[in-house]
Amino acid sequence: MESIQCWAVSRYADVDYVIRHPQIFSSTGLMNGFLGDLNPVPEVPWMIDLDPPDHTKLRKLVNKAFTPRLIMALEARIREICNQILSDLRGRVEFDLVRDFSMPLPVIVISELLGVDPEYRADFKRWSDATIRSSVRPTDEDERHEIRRETRARCAYLEHIIAQRRKEPREDLISRLVQAEEDHQTLSALEVIALTILILIAGNETTTNLLGNTILALLAHPAEFAKVRADRRLVPQLVEEVLRYDSAVQGVFRVAVREIELAGTTIPAGAGVFYLNGSANRDERKYENPDRFDVFRNPPDHLSFGYGIHYCLGAQLARIEAKVALDALLFEQPPFARTTEAMTRGDGLAVRGPKTLPLRFVG
Ligand code: HEM
Repeated sequence: MESIQCWAVSRYADVDYVIRHPQIFSSTGLMNGFLGDLNPVPEVPWMIDLDPPDHTKLRKLVNKAFTPRLIMALEARIREICNQILSDLRGRVEFDLVRDFSMPLPVIVISELLGVDPEYRADFKRWSDATIRSSVRPTDEDERHEIRRETRARCAYLEHIIAQRRKEPREDLISRLVQAEEDHQTLSALEVIALTILILIAGNETTTNLLGNTILALLAHPAEFAKVRADRRLVPQLVEEVLRYDSAVQGVFRVAVREIELAGTTIPAGAGVFYLNGSANRDERKYENPDRFDVFRNPPDHLSFGYGIHYCLGAQLARIEAKVALDALLFEQPPFARTTEAMTRGDGLAVRGPKTLPLRFVG
Protein backbone atom coordinates (compact mmCIF):
# COMPACT_ATOMS: atom_id res chain seq x y z
CA MET A 1 0.00 0.00 0.00
CA GLU A 2 2.33 2.67 -1.33
CA SER A 3 0.06 5.70 -0.90
CA ILE A 4 -0.23 5.42 2.89
CA GLN A 5 3.25 3.96 3.34
CA CYS A 6 2.45 0.86 5.33
CA TRP A 7 2.47 -2.92 5.14
CA ALA A 8 -0.94 -4.48 4.64
CA VAL A 9 -1.55 -7.70 6.57
CA SER A 10 -4.46 -9.60 5.11
CA ARG A 11 -4.58 -13.30 6.07
CA TYR A 12 -6.54 -14.36 9.14
CA ALA A 13 -3.55 -16.02 10.88
CA ASP A 14 -1.32 -12.98 10.28
CA VAL A 15 -3.93 -10.41 11.33
CA ASP A 16 -4.55 -12.52 14.43
CA TYR A 17 -0.79 -12.48 15.12
CA VAL A 18 -0.57 -8.69 14.77
CA ILE A 19 -3.53 -8.09 17.08
CA ARG A 20 -2.23 -10.53 19.72
CA HIS A 21 1.23 -8.97 19.89
CA PRO A 22 0.88 -5.35 21.04
CA GLN A 23 4.50 -5.48 22.28
CA ILE A 24 5.60 -5.83 18.62
CA PHE A 25 2.79 -3.95 16.86
CA SER A 26 2.22 -0.73 18.79
CA SER A 27 -0.95 1.36 18.66
CA THR A 28 0.98 4.59 19.27
CA GLY A 29 -0.25 7.47 17.19
CA LEU A 30 -3.19 5.56 15.67
CA MET A 31 -5.76 8.28 16.31
CA ASN A 32 -3.42 11.14 17.14
CA GLY A 33 -1.59 10.76 13.84
CA PHE A 34 -4.87 10.57 11.96
CA LEU A 35 -6.39 13.68 13.58
CA GLY A 36 -3.20 15.78 13.38
CA ASP A 37 -3.86 19.45 14.16
CA LEU A 38 -7.59 18.74 14.58
CA ASN A 39 -7.02 16.63 17.69
CA PRO A 40 -9.54 18.08 20.18
CA VAL A 41 -7.54 16.97 23.24
CA PRO A 42 -3.81 16.88 22.35
CA GLU A 43 -2.94 17.14 26.07
CA VAL A 44 -3.91 13.52 26.85
CA PRO A 45 -3.41 10.29 24.87
CA TRP A 46 -6.37 8.47 23.33
CA MET A 47 -7.01 5.08 24.93
CA ILE A 48 -6.93 3.47 21.48
CA ASP A 49 -3.38 4.90 20.96
CA LEU A 50 -1.90 3.43 24.13
CA ASP A 51 0.18 0.30 24.64
CA PRO A 52 0.56 -1.64 27.89
CA PRO A 53 1.07 -0.80 30.71
CA ASP A 54 -0.61 2.63 30.16
CA HIS A 55 -3.44 1.11 28.15
CA THR A 56 -4.03 -1.57 30.80
CA LYS A 57 -4.44 1.02 33.55
CA LEU A 58 -6.78 3.24 31.56
CA ARG A 59 -8.89 0.40 30.16
CA LYS A 60 -9.35 -1.04 33.67
CA LEU A 61 -10.77 2.29 34.81
CA VAL A 62 -13.02 2.56 31.77
CA ASN A 63 -14.23 -1.02 32.24
CA LYS A 64 -15.35 -0.06 35.75
CA ALA A 65 -17.73 2.48 34.22
CA PHE A 66 -18.67 0.81 30.92
CA THR A 67 -19.96 -2.49 32.30
CA PRO A 68 -21.88 -5.30 30.54
CA ARG A 69 -24.67 -4.72 33.07
CA LEU A 70 -24.99 -1.05 32.11
CA ILE A 71 -25.21 -1.97 28.43
CA MET A 72 -27.67 -4.83 28.94
CA ALA A 73 -29.95 -2.48 30.83
CA LEU A 74 -30.16 -0.27 27.72
CA GLU A 75 -31.97 -2.81 25.56
CA ALA A 76 -35.51 -1.72 26.44
CA ARG A 77 -34.63 1.96 25.89
CA ILE A 78 -33.00 1.15 22.53
CA ARG A 79 -36.23 -0.57 21.49
CA GLU A 80 -38.21 2.57 22.44
CA ILE A 81 -35.82 4.78 20.45
CA CYS A 82 -36.10 2.48 17.40
CA ASN A 83 -39.88 2.55 17.58
CA GLN A 84 -39.85 6.31 17.93
CA ILE A 85 -37.65 6.73 14.83
CA LEU A 86 -39.66 4.18 12.84
CA SER A 87 -42.98 5.80 13.77
CA ASP A 88 -41.81 8.85 11.77
CA LEU A 89 -41.65 6.63 8.68
CA ARG A 90 -45.28 5.57 8.98
CA GLY A 91 -47.29 6.63 5.95
CA ARG A 92 -44.19 7.18 3.85
CA VAL A 93 -43.61 5.31 0.61
CA GLU A 94 -39.88 5.89 0.40
CA PHE A 95 -37.14 6.47 2.94
CA ASP A 96 -33.38 6.54 3.12
CA LEU A 97 -32.19 3.85 5.51
CA VAL A 98 -29.05 5.76 6.50
CA ARG A 99 -30.47 9.26 6.84
CA ASP A 100 -33.79 8.23 8.40
CA PHE A 101 -32.83 5.28 10.59
CA SER A 102 -29.32 3.89 10.89
CA MET A 103 -27.61 7.26 11.40
CA PRO A 104 -29.92 8.79 14.03
CA LEU A 105 -30.23 5.59 16.10
CA PRO A 106 -26.63 5.30 17.44
CA VAL A 107 -26.37 9.08 17.82
CA ILE A 108 -29.37 9.10 20.18
CA VAL A 109 -28.29 5.89 22.00
CA ILE A 110 -24.71 7.03 22.63
CA SER A 111 -25.67 10.59 23.56
CA GLU A 112 -28.20 9.27 26.09
CA LEU A 113 -25.72 6.73 27.41
CA LEU A 114 -23.08 9.42 27.91
CA GLY A 115 -25.50 12.00 29.27
CA VAL A 116 -25.18 14.59 26.48
CA ASP A 117 -28.27 16.82 26.47
CA PRO A 118 -30.65 16.12 23.55
CA GLU A 119 -30.31 19.65 22.14
CA TYR A 120 -26.56 19.15 21.64
CA ARG A 121 -26.72 15.70 19.98
CA ALA A 122 -26.87 16.96 16.41
CA ASP A 123 -24.02 19.43 17.10
CA PHE A 124 -21.78 16.65 18.40
CA LYS A 125 -22.54 14.40 15.43
CA ARG A 126 -21.95 17.18 12.86
CA TRP A 127 -18.73 18.25 14.57
CA SER A 128 -17.29 14.74 14.96
CA ASP A 129 -18.16 13.93 11.30
CA ALA A 130 -16.48 17.16 10.14
CA THR A 131 -13.38 16.42 12.25
CA ILE A 132 -13.05 12.92 10.77
CA ARG A 133 -13.77 14.11 7.21
CA SER A 134 -11.14 16.81 7.41
CA SER A 135 -8.63 14.36 8.86
CA VAL A 136 -8.91 11.96 5.93
CA ARG A 137 -8.93 14.45 3.08
CA PRO A 138 -7.36 17.87 2.50
CA THR A 139 -9.52 20.77 3.63
CA ASP A 140 -8.87 24.48 3.40
CA GLU A 141 -7.67 26.48 6.39
CA ASP A 142 -11.05 28.26 6.81
CA GLU A 143 -12.79 24.95 7.31
CA ARG A 144 -10.12 23.73 9.75
CA HIS A 145 -10.36 27.01 11.62
CA GLU A 146 -14.14 26.55 11.91
CA ILE A 147 -13.70 22.98 13.19
CA ARG A 148 -11.19 24.14 15.81
CA ARG A 149 -13.60 26.87 16.91
CA GLU A 150 -16.36 24.30 17.30
CA THR A 151 -13.97 21.94 19.07
CA ARG A 152 -13.47 24.55 21.79
CA ALA A 153 -17.23 24.92 22.20
CA ARG A 154 -17.82 21.14 22.40
CA CYS A 155 -14.97 20.64 24.90
CA ALA A 156 -16.20 23.56 27.04
CA TYR A 157 -19.66 21.95 27.12
CA LEU A 158 -18.19 18.58 28.17
CA GLU A 159 -16.07 20.27 30.84
CA HIS A 160 -19.22 21.88 32.20
CA ILE A 161 -21.11 18.53 32.25
CA ILE A 162 -18.16 16.81 33.97
CA ALA A 163 -18.00 19.47 36.69
CA GLN A 164 -21.75 19.18 37.16
CA ARG A 165 -21.63 15.36 37.40
CA ARG A 166 -18.82 15.52 39.95
CA LYS A 167 -21.15 17.52 42.17
CA GLU A 168 -24.34 15.68 41.34
CA PRO A 169 -23.73 12.28 39.74
CA ARG A 170 -26.48 10.80 37.59
CA GLU A 171 -26.96 7.34 36.06
CA ASP A 172 -25.07 8.27 32.86
CA LEU A 173 -21.66 7.15 31.59
CA ILE A 174 -19.99 10.53 32.13
CA SER A 175 -20.94 10.31 35.84
CA ARG A 176 -19.62 6.74 35.97
CA LEU A 177 -16.33 7.73 34.29
CA VAL A 178 -15.93 10.64 36.70
CA GLN A 179 -16.48 8.29 39.67
CA ALA A 180 -14.42 5.33 38.39
CA GLU A 181 -11.54 4.43 40.67
CA GLU A 182 -8.92 1.69 40.44
CA ASP A 183 -5.81 1.36 42.64
CA HIS A 184 -6.52 4.87 44.04
CA GLN A 185 -6.44 6.31 40.51
CA THR A 186 -9.23 8.30 38.90
CA LEU A 187 -9.72 9.97 35.53
CA SER A 188 -8.96 13.66 35.04
CA ALA A 189 -11.52 15.93 33.37
CA LEU A 190 -9.44 15.94 30.17
CA GLU A 191 -9.26 12.14 30.17
CA VAL A 192 -13.03 11.95 30.53
CA ILE A 193 -13.41 14.44 27.63
CA ALA A 194 -11.07 12.33 25.47
CA LEU A 195 -12.95 9.13 26.30
CA THR A 196 -16.32 10.75 25.61
CA ILE A 197 -15.12 11.95 22.21
CA LEU A 198 -13.52 8.56 21.44
CA ILE A 199 -16.79 6.80 22.24
CA LEU A 200 -18.74 9.24 20.04
CA ILE A 201 -16.32 8.83 17.13
CA ALA A 202 -15.88 5.07 17.48
CA GLY A 203 -19.50 4.20 18.13
CA ASN A 204 -21.61 6.19 15.70
CA GLU A 205 -20.53 5.59 12.13
CA THR A 206 -19.52 1.98 12.83
CA THR A 207 -22.99 1.03 14.05
CA THR A 208 -24.63 2.97 11.21
CA ASN A 209 -22.47 0.99 8.78
CA LEU A 210 -23.29 -2.34 10.39
CA LEU A 211 -27.02 -1.68 9.87
CA GLY A 212 -26.52 -0.43 6.29
CA ASN A 213 -24.30 -3.39 5.40
CA THR A 214 -26.91 -5.79 6.82
CA ILE A 215 -29.75 -4.42 4.72
CA LEU A 216 -27.53 -4.37 1.62
CA ALA A 217 -26.52 -7.99 2.17
CA LEU A 218 -30.10 -9.15 2.77
CA LEU A 219 -31.47 -7.39 -0.30
CA ALA A 220 -28.65 -8.81 -2.43
CA HIS A 221 -29.35 -12.35 -1.15
CA PRO A 222 -33.12 -12.95 -1.24
CA ALA A 223 -32.84 -16.64 -0.27
CA GLU A 224 -30.92 -15.72 2.91
CA PHE A 225 -33.38 -12.89 3.57
CA ALA A 226 -36.26 -15.39 3.33
CA LYS A 227 -34.60 -17.62 5.97
CA VAL A 228 -34.36 -14.71 8.40
CA ARG A 229 -37.93 -13.62 7.68
CA ALA A 230 -39.09 -17.15 8.45
CA ASP A 231 -37.40 -17.15 11.87
CA ARG A 232 -36.67 -13.93 13.74
CA ARG A 233 -34.50 -15.85 16.23
CA LEU A 234 -31.87 -15.82 13.47
CA VAL A 235 -31.27 -12.06 13.88
CA PRO A 236 -28.27 -12.35 16.28
CA GLN A 237 -26.67 -14.86 13.90
CA LEU A 238 -27.40 -12.58 10.98
CA VAL A 239 -25.53 -9.78 12.75
CA GLU A 240 -22.46 -11.98 13.27
CA GLU A 241 -22.42 -13.07 9.64
CA VAL A 242 -22.70 -9.47 8.38
CA LEU A 243 -19.87 -8.44 10.71
CA ARG A 244 -17.77 -11.15 9.05
CA TYR A 245 -19.00 -10.80 5.48
CA ASP A 246 -18.96 -7.01 5.19
CA SER A 247 -17.03 -5.64 8.19
CA ALA A 248 -17.97 -2.11 9.24
CA VAL A 249 -14.30 -1.62 10.18
CA GLN A 250 -12.04 -3.03 7.48
CA GLY A 251 -8.62 -2.24 8.89
CA VAL A 252 -6.67 -0.71 11.78
CA PHE A 253 -3.15 0.79 11.91
CA ARG A 254 -0.19 -0.32 14.00
CA VAL A 255 3.54 0.48 14.06
CA ALA A 256 6.18 -2.28 14.16
CA VAL A 257 8.39 -1.49 17.15
CA ARG A 258 11.13 -3.85 15.93
CA GLU A 259 11.99 -5.72 12.77
CA ILE A 260 9.71 -8.70 12.40
CA GLU A 261 9.14 -11.42 9.83
CA LEU A 262 5.52 -12.02 8.98
CA ALA A 263 4.22 -14.34 6.23
CA GLY A 264 7.73 -14.58 4.79
CA THR A 265 8.15 -10.80 4.60
CA THR A 266 10.51 -8.74 6.71
CA ILE A 267 8.79 -5.68 8.13
CA PRO A 268 11.38 -3.12 9.28
CA ALA A 269 11.35 -1.47 12.70
CA GLY A 270 9.25 1.69 12.69
CA ALA A 271 7.17 0.66 9.66
CA GLY A 272 3.43 1.29 9.52
CA VAL A 273 1.27 -1.84 9.46
CA PHE A 274 -2.38 -1.94 8.43
CA TYR A 275 -4.16 -5.04 9.73
CA LEU A 276 -7.04 -5.84 7.40
CA ASN A 277 -9.60 -7.54 9.60
CA GLY A 278 -12.20 -7.28 6.82
CA SER A 279 -9.91 -9.35 4.60
CA ALA A 280 -9.09 -11.84 7.40
CA ASN A 281 -12.82 -12.41 7.78
CA ARG A 282 -12.92 -13.57 4.14
CA ASP A 283 -9.83 -15.83 4.33
CA GLU A 284 -10.54 -19.18 2.68
CA ARG A 285 -7.99 -20.81 5.00
CA LYS A 286 -10.26 -19.91 7.90
CA TYR A 287 -13.81 -19.98 6.50
CA GLU A 288 -15.33 -22.37 4.01
CA ASN A 289 -16.72 -20.52 1.02
CA PRO A 290 -15.84 -17.17 2.63
CA ASP A 291 -17.45 -15.05 -0.08
CA ARG A 292 -20.80 -16.73 0.52
CA PHE A 293 -23.23 -14.83 2.72
CA ASP A 294 -24.74 -17.53 4.94
CA VAL A 295 -27.07 -16.59 7.78
CA PHE A 296 -26.57 -20.00 9.40
CA ARG A 297 -22.77 -19.67 9.55
CA ASN A 298 -22.66 -17.88 12.94
CA PRO A 299 -18.88 -17.27 12.84
CA PRO A 300 -17.76 -17.05 16.47
CA ASP A 301 -14.22 -15.84 15.81
CA HIS A 302 -14.50 -13.11 13.17
CA LEU A 303 -12.19 -10.16 13.79
CA SER A 304 -14.60 -7.29 13.13
CA PHE A 305 -14.25 -5.97 16.67
CA GLY A 306 -10.51 -6.65 16.81
CA TYR A 307 -9.19 -8.89 19.56
CA GLY A 308 -7.16 -8.79 22.76
CA ILE A 309 -6.31 -5.66 24.70
CA HIS A 310 -7.98 -3.17 22.31
CA TYR A 311 -11.03 -5.40 21.72
CA CYS A 312 -13.87 -3.04 20.88
CA LEU A 313 -15.24 -1.43 24.03
CA GLY A 314 -18.64 -1.08 22.33
CA ALA A 315 -18.99 -4.57 20.82
CA GLN A 316 -21.80 -5.57 23.16
CA LEU A 317 -23.59 -2.26 22.62
CA ALA A 318 -23.25 -2.52 18.82
CA ARG A 319 -24.62 -6.08 18.90
CA ILE A 320 -27.62 -5.12 21.05
CA GLU A 321 -28.35 -2.03 18.94
CA ALA A 322 -28.14 -4.05 15.72
CA LYS A 323 -30.29 -6.89 17.06
CA VAL A 324 -33.03 -4.58 18.36
CA ALA A 325 -32.92 -2.32 15.27
CA LEU A 326 -33.09 -5.20 12.79
CA ASP A 327 -35.83 -6.92 14.72
CA ALA A 328 -37.93 -3.75 14.51
CA LEU A 329 -37.01 -2.99 10.91
CA LEU A 330 -37.49 -6.49 9.50
CA PHE A 331 -40.47 -7.66 11.54
CA GLU A 332 -42.49 -4.63 12.51
CA GLN A 333 -42.39 -2.68 9.23
CA PRO A 334 -43.81 -3.52 5.83
CA PRO A 335 -41.29 -5.24 3.51
CA PHE A 336 -39.06 -2.92 1.51
CA ALA A 337 -36.95 -2.96 -1.63
CA ARG A 338 -34.25 -0.74 -3.11
CA THR A 339 -35.57 2.12 -5.23
CA THR A 340 -32.38 2.16 -7.28
CA GLU A 341 -29.19 0.17 -7.56
CA ALA A 342 -27.33 3.47 -7.14
CA MET A 343 -25.80 3.91 -3.72
CA THR A 344 -22.98 6.01 -2.30
CA ARG A 345 -20.38 4.27 -0.17
CA GLY A 346 -18.18 6.19 2.24
CA ASP A 347 -14.65 6.70 0.93
CA GLY A 348 -12.83 6.07 4.23
CA LEU A 349 -10.03 3.54 4.09
CA ALA A 350 -10.81 1.90 7.41
CA VAL A 351 -14.60 2.04 7.69
CA ARG A 352 -17.09 0.61 5.23
CA GLY A 353 -20.80 1.16 4.74
CA PRO A 354 -23.36 2.89 2.54
CA LYS A 355 -23.71 6.66 2.95
CA THR A 356 -27.17 6.55 1.39
CA LEU A 357 -29.53 3.64 0.85
CA PRO A 358 -32.86 4.71 -0.67
CA LEU A 359 -35.63 2.16 -0.06
CA ARG A 360 -39.35 1.93 -0.76
CA PHE A 361 -42.01 0.01 1.13
CA VAL A 362 -43.56 -2.69 -1.02
CA GLY A 363 -46.14 -4.20 1.32
C1 HEM B 1 -20.24 -2.36 14.31
C2 HEM B 1 -19.76 -1.58 15.22
C3 HEM B 1 -18.32 -1.50 15.63
C4 HEM B 1 -17.19 -2.04 15.04
C5 HEM B 1 -17.11 -2.90 13.79
C6 HEM B 1 -16.06 -1.65 15.86
C7 HEM B 1 -14.75 -2.03 15.62
C8 HEM B 1 -13.68 -1.81 16.47
C9 HEM B 1 -12.36 -2.35 16.31
C10 HEM B 1 -11.88 -3.19 15.14
C11 HEM B 1 -11.61 -1.94 17.37
C12 HEM B 1 -10.16 -2.34 17.68
C13 HEM B 1 -9.17 -1.27 17.32
C14 HEM B 1 -7.74 -1.72 17.54
O1 HEM B 1 -7.41 -2.90 17.37
O2 HEM B 1 -6.91 -0.85 17.83
C15 HEM B 1 -12.46 -1.12 18.21
C16 HEM B 1 -12.06 -0.48 19.36
C17 HEM B 1 -12.86 0.39 20.06
N1 HEM B 1 -14.22 0.60 19.87
FE1 HEM B 1 -15.37 -0.22 18.46
N2 HEM B 1 -16.50 -0.87 16.90
C18 HEM B 1 -17.88 -0.77 16.80
C19 HEM B 1 -18.73 -0.11 17.67
C20 HEM B 1 -18.32 0.60 18.76
C21 HEM B 1 -19.20 1.30 19.68
C22 HEM B 1 -20.72 1.29 19.61
C23 HEM B 1 -18.40 1.92 20.58
C24 HEM B 1 -18.75 2.82 21.74
C25 HEM B 1 -19.66 2.68 22.56
C26 HEM B 1 -17.02 1.60 20.26
C27 HEM B 1 -15.91 2.02 20.96
C28 HEM B 1 -14.63 1.54 20.79
C29 HEM B 1 -13.49 1.96 21.61
C30 HEM B 1 -13.52 2.99 22.73
C31 HEM B 1 -12.40 1.23 21.15
C32 HEM B 1 -10.96 1.30 21.69
C33 HEM B 1 -10.73 0.23 22.72
C34 HEM B 1 -9.34 0.23 23.31
O3 HEM B 1 -8.44 0.89 22.78
O4 HEM B 1 -9.12 -0.44 24.34
N3 HEM B 1 -17.02 0.78 19.16
N4 HEM B 1 -13.73 -1.08 17.65
